[in-house]
Amino acid sequence: MRSPAARTLTPVTRPVLSVIGCGYLGAVHATAMADLGYEVIGVDVDEAKIKQLAEGTAPFYEPGLDELLQRVEGTGRLQFTTSFETAAERADVHFLCVGTPQRADSNAADLTYVDAALDTLARLLTRPTLVVGKSTVPVGTAERLAARLAELAPVGAAARLAWNPEFLREGFAVQDTLAPDRLVVGVSDPQDAEVLRNVYEPVLAKGTPWIVTDLATAQLVKSAANAFLATKISFINAMAELCEASGADVVALADAIGHDPRIGRRFLQAGLGFGGGCLPKDIRGFMACADELGVQEALGFLREVDDINLRRRARALAQARALVGGDLAGKVVTVLGAAFKPDSDDIRDSPALDVAHMLAREGAVVRVTDPKALDNARRVVSDVELVADPVQACRDADLVLHLTEWRDYRALDPVALKAVVRRPRILDGRNALELAAWAAAGWEVAALGRPTVGGTPQPTVS
Ligand code: UDX
Repeated sequence: MRSPAARTLTPVTRPVLSVIGCGYLGAVHATAMADLGYEVIGVDVDEAKIKQLAEGTAPFYEPGLDELLQRVEGTGRLQFTTSFETAAERADVHFLCVGTPQRADSNAADLTYVDAALDTLARLLTRPTLVVGKSTVPVGTAERLAARLAELAPVGAAARLAWNPEFLREGFAVQDTLAPDRLVVGVSDPQDAEVLRNVYEPVLAKGTPWIVTDLATAQLVKSAANAFLATKISFINAMAELCEASGADVVALADAIGHDPRIGRRFLQAGLGFGGGCLPKDIRGFMACADELGVQEALGFLREVDDINLRRRARALAQARALVGGDLAGKVVTVLGAAFKPDSDDIRDSPALDVAHMLAREGAVVRVTDPKALDNARRVVSDVELVADPVQACRDADLVLHLTEWRDYRALDPVALKAVVRRPRILDGRNALELAAWAAAGWEVAALGRPTVGGTPQPTVS
């Protein structure tokens, strides 16, 4: 019989942590926790990724992460390895940060990586441990994993499971990890929450709200937060459709409704809509989950949210077509932006690249530029030309599309750029440019959800 003291992990003054899965979420979490003073072991099955991280460089672009990695490197507290054995031997608390992409054959989340990581780790756990899930999963997954953990771990029920969803945004990942809006922890035993409270003490000391709940609620919090954010974006993009049909201006509309603190202006940026590795697949996974639970009607509106979002891409294409006089074939079109959002090199479900492919399919000669995402784009794109310098990318263009709102593009000089293009025509797909200045420089300007900009009428879209 195990002694009562060995039954579960108690708050350890300075526990050793492991972070399993070193992608956007895990690499930042591991580095940030080491910065807070913990000894951290980052684990990933991808040897190239581990090698790069061990050398002190992030395998992706995330502002501030390289600096943080290098700062922490000097302390000797952060180690990266492909060995689960090392993590199981040394760490008291293990954070599961592996990806849950959309399944190829359905809308549901693919839990293969979560299941594999948990199984591998569990079999190695010989002393009381807390495993903390951070990946976005359908509700019910944590309960299943908790049972599997206790079944597979040599230490049995002393291997505990908690759920601690992550809300970080790419581009702000370091800041969101070190100073999050809130920390949410789902547990089946209050003692597990105490272990985590102890781990997060340096973050909680800054006044971060601490929410302890059950496993099911913690998993749902993450899905609900992403569904709400996606809904907010699609709401304003639905208003953009109404603005386009009625001659109104969605930017002025968003400003006006955003003054109401119950509504708020954040996440009401109308334009090309949402993409990335989270919102699109998470709302689809959430719908699949509701379906499984027999309450599909509850999330029926997310189908609309998804459809509105994808219609923005079709609208941008239609506007591009109208701007060049109805036929894109043979026209040189420059796309400013390849990343799904600025300050990231992530091109997963990038609205900008999606539109670039659609233009290429209509026969346009498409040139895409981006300050950080071209290396990633090069790996998957073959139908468009990738050009690093935005001014070179605009040379002889019949049309310029602004599809990812990098600061660099707001700094472009419309007067200088006019001398480079064949026809000065620009569509602002993110409503982020000073279009009055572009119009004043002699450009024909258009935007999504804004019928006239700088006094220039929008082209008719059929
Ligand atoms: C999102 C959530 O914000 C984060 O909490 C969660 O942990 C992961 O998913 P992220 O995917 O990094 O984060 O990006 P986010 O800033 O949410 O933007 C998502 C997409 O929505 C981007 O394509 C962005 O361009 C678009 N967006 C965002 C809009 O179109 N309008 C807006 O007002 C805001």
